[in-house]
Amino acid sequence: MNKNIVCVGAGYIGGPTMAVIAKMNPDRKVIVVDINESRIAAWNSEDYSLPIYEPGLVDVVKEVRGKNLFFSTDIEGAVKECDIIFVGVNTPTKTFGRGAGYASDLQYWEATARSIKGYANGDKIVVEKSTLPVRTAAAMEAILNDSAEHRFAVLSNPEFLAEGTAINDLVSPDRVLIGGPQDEFGLAAIQEVVDIYASWVPREKILTTNVWSAELTKLAANAFLAQRVSSINAIAGLCEATGADVEEVARVMGADHRIGPKFLKAGPGFGGSCFKKDVLNLVYLCESFGLHTAAKYWEGVIKMNEHQQERIVSRLIKEMFNTLANKKVAVFGFAFKADTGDTRETPSGAVVRQLDEEHAKIAITDPKALPNAAKDLADLLGEESRIVLEPDPYKAAEGADAVLLMTDWKLYPSLDWQRIYDSMRKPALVFDTRNCLDREALKNIGFKVLNVGK
Ligand code: NAD
Ligand code: UGA
Repeated sequence: MNKNIVCVGAGYIGGPTMAVIAKMNPDRKVIVVDINESRIAAWNSEDYSLPIYEPGLVDVVKEVRGKNLFFSTDIEGAVKECDIIFVGVNTPTKTFGRGAGYASDLQYWEATARSIKGYANGDKIVVEKSTLPVRTAAAMEAILNDSAEHRFAVLSNPEFLAEGTAINDLVSPDRVLIGGPQDEFGLAAIQEVVDIYASWVPREKILTTNVWSAELTKLAANAFLAQRVSSINAIAGLCEATGADVEEVARVMGADHRIGPKFLKAGPGFGGSCFKKDVLNLVYLCESFGLHTAAKYWEGVIKMNEHQQERIVSRLIKEMFNTLANKKVAVFGFAFKADTGDTRETPSGAVVRQLDEEHAKIAITDPKALPNAAKDLADLLGEESRIVLEPDPYKAAEGADAVLLMTDWKLYPSLDWQRIYDSMRKPALVFDTRNCLDREALKNIGFKVLNVGK
């Protein structure tokens, strides 16, 4: 009989992943549990106002919720009912004590491990879905298997989906990775998890390794992707200084199949909850194993990313006659990328704070991320604030001296830019940090145009 599945953590990872697993495994019961009651209530809401925005997610949830997918706060009941326990709780960067600013904060993880142990009524397979430092499974094992009452196999099944394309990434993954102990008990557990994915993923795309390789591969994959973004942004600065065009450089470099075209888009730098956190985690791991030069190498990826946002603000100030005080800047996009409402580590956040320090008046617009922007910028908002949040991009641009495009929402190139120009103070500037607008058309309207890497 196919085993039931519980996922602890109903966030960006737990929700979409389990919805797709439930859809593809109609004969298994899948329960997603969380300590956050309002989040669970949103997953269960009658009108499907789910707690996260992800294209295609509502349709999958509509198909399976109440059939074989359930959202609940009853962690104990779910652990008792299920034999396979995925753990997708948050693992943010530590903000206190040893390793602050670098290491993962594993308190939510350990709390979950202890509640699984407390509630378990038989042998269980525990699957790390969160991104974790290498050798976390050893700590997990130590907590779970410290008495002989029940036996726990601890596996690592890191998730590679990207926000905005999560459903497609889950339905057609490049690969699924399952790491586990290479003994009889561990290999049998790996096979159980392979079976879940094999109901829709071609078997040759399901890769199995030892548990440490799986944990490290996830960190390494994110570090490589982040490194590509920082590398192209480092080239972008050189393009601006020399008259080269970063899009041309990237297109030709990407045609070399050894380099490939993906993750070569220059922009405001990477955001999102994971790249920075995971690279910092890698830096911390390297330092802890005495690999100081490797740690410095990876730290450079983060430094370059932060520098990119500072560079954008410096260029804007320079183009606006060296002062932003009391000038209005319309910031188009607050999400860290298009097709998500997520604003964690968004480059827009860093840039808005720098603009505020320059005493600019700021109107932020975004089709999905304004509720999160309001939370992130709570300390800067209020009666005396120079910042407003405005859902309508035309209103945000009214009377502005500059539009600073930060997120590559598809909506933005299709706006009526003549109308925007007519409503702005002159000279009107557009700084397109995503290189997604028609630069020549904007110039013909009368805009002064800035791009990254041009
Ligand atoms: P999230 O903050 O959206 O969700 C985590 C959830 O875990 C929260 O709802 C929280 O309430 C819950 N939680 C915390 N402690 C709990 C406990 N003891 N019991 C029950 N629930 C608990 O985070 P996320 O973006 O889903 O990321 C989760 C993990 O997945 C992280 O390690 C992250 O690195 C990894 N990951 C995320 C993505 C992504 O696209 N967001 C992609 C790949 C991997
Ligand atoms: C990333 C990885 O792509 C996923 O494989 C991984 O599972 C996930 O992190 C995770 O571990 O959380 P995500 O952060 O959702 O996914 O989004 P990406 O598409 O990777 O974009 C990350 C950031 O890099 C965004 O701010 C994006 O705008 C930026 N980016 C990306 C660029 O600036 N240029 C590019 O060419 C690509």
